[in-house]
Amino acid sequence: MRAVVYHGPHNVAVENVEDARVQDPNDVVVQVTTSAICGSDLHMYEGRTAAEPGIVFGHENMGIVVDVGPGVVHVRRGDRVSMPFNVACGFCKNCTAGNTGYCLTVNPGFAGGAYGYVNMGPYRGGQAEYVRVPFADFNCLKLPPGNEHENDFAMLADVFPTGYHGVAMTELRPGESITVMGGGPVGLMAAYSAVLIGAAKVFLVDRVPSRLRLAESFGAIPIDFTGGDPVEQIRDQTDGDGTDRGVDAVGYQGTGPGGQEQPAGVLNSLVEIVRATGRIGVVGLYVPHDPGAPDPHSQNGELLFRVGKFFEKALRMGSGQTNVKAYNAYLRDLIIAGRARPSLVVSKELPLDAAPEGYQRFDRREEGYSKVVLKPAA
Ligand SMILES: NC(=O)c1ccc[n+]([C@@H]2O[C@H](COP(=O)([O-])OP(=O)(O)OC[C@H]3O[C@@H](n4cnc5c(N)ncnc54)[C@H](O)[C@@H]3O)[C@@H](O)[C@H]2O)c1
Ligand SMILES: [Zn+2]
Ligand SMILES: [Zn+2]
Repeated sequence: MRAVVYHGPHNVAVENVEDARVQDPNDVVVQVTTSAICGSDLHMYEGRTAAEPGIVFGHENMGIVVDVGPGVVHVRRGDRVSMPFNVACGFCKNCTAGNTGYCLTVNPGFAGGAYGYVNMGPYRGGQAEYVRVPFADFNCLKLPPGNEHENDFAMLADVFPTGYHGVAMTELRPGESITVMGGGPVGLMAAYSAVLIGAAKVFLVDRVPSRLRLAESFGAIPIDFTGGDPVEQIRDQTDGDGTDRGVDAVGYQGTGPGGQEQPAGVLNSLVEIVRATGRIGVVGLYVPHDPGAPDPHSQNGELLFRVGKFFEKALRMGSGQTNVKAYNAYLRDLIIAGRARPSLVVSKELPLDAAPEGYQRFDRREEGYSKVVLKPAA
């Protein structure tokens, strides 16, 4: 089968790999109808993780079940399914507590597994014709048959739940205000979730005009950080108070207005913007090892975070990978009911063979390449 294989920094190729197949009784094999490229893939693509060549990318997968292991009881051949990017067992201590992003079974020696991602276990990604899904009864979310809402449902594997999770960690209540740093697909989905939850004011900070326009289209207030310090811009629009809540949807590769990397810049801006006793949800990625970091401390994941100010303001912060299964069924039902349309972030559909171009252009944050979905079955 054909698949997107990582060859090294800025180098992916579509080539033949061994077919996905049922390896364990609880597995299914899914023919991938849509697999999205993620900002998380770009960290690997740019050589900014410990990823080794040979990984098949793709953790945002959906499709049709084509083969079913003998131990699978709920999922059937022909089912249309979405898979959380997390691979989880469903029965370990963390899974039973709902923390499926930190499964203790699927990636021995580490808490958490995922498809096609460095350090996340042996699970091949779904930017391919087929993908193997372990513990399939637990990891498959059933979707209505047919092809309606395909790109909406494609957002259920990661960015819609992740944006929602960023907001959920802040414990936002209706009528409050929130700042979302980053207007990539994750930040846009965070701002969109905040609007759904009923925030009175949602600020979205980025520099890319099309991303800021998209945020404005669903009721967020765009803040271009190249037009002045976002802290000041948001204080000006909140009577000097800042916002009740804040989400980091950027992570360790955030930049300053001149384009220079500032690994702790976004976290420190949020410490300023969020009012005393407020909460911050960090879904933007931070890594323990970054071979391309601008200084030796950041290479070990040690950043100059303003913990003094953070303490003085009695702020609280949540972080980590999203437990997608905590949200995906509810968000699916919002889509079916016509009350959410996360596909608004999707800007490009490409056949699998065009993946190298998709990576290159999404990586440059080109206009029109904010969320690229690959269509391997087309
Ligand atoms: N926690 C999770 O489970 C999870 C899941 C998916 C993605 N992620 C992470 O979320 C982050 C965002 O993902 P994405 O797909 O939206 O990526 P993306 O790269 O498309 O978006 C990042 C955006 O941040 C903007 N940005 C850069 N510096 C900034 C600054 N100082 N202030 C404000 N905005 C700034 C960029 O212009 C870009 O639009 C990535 O780090 C990704 O790895 C985490
Ligand atoms: Zn993703
Ligand atoms: Zn588990």
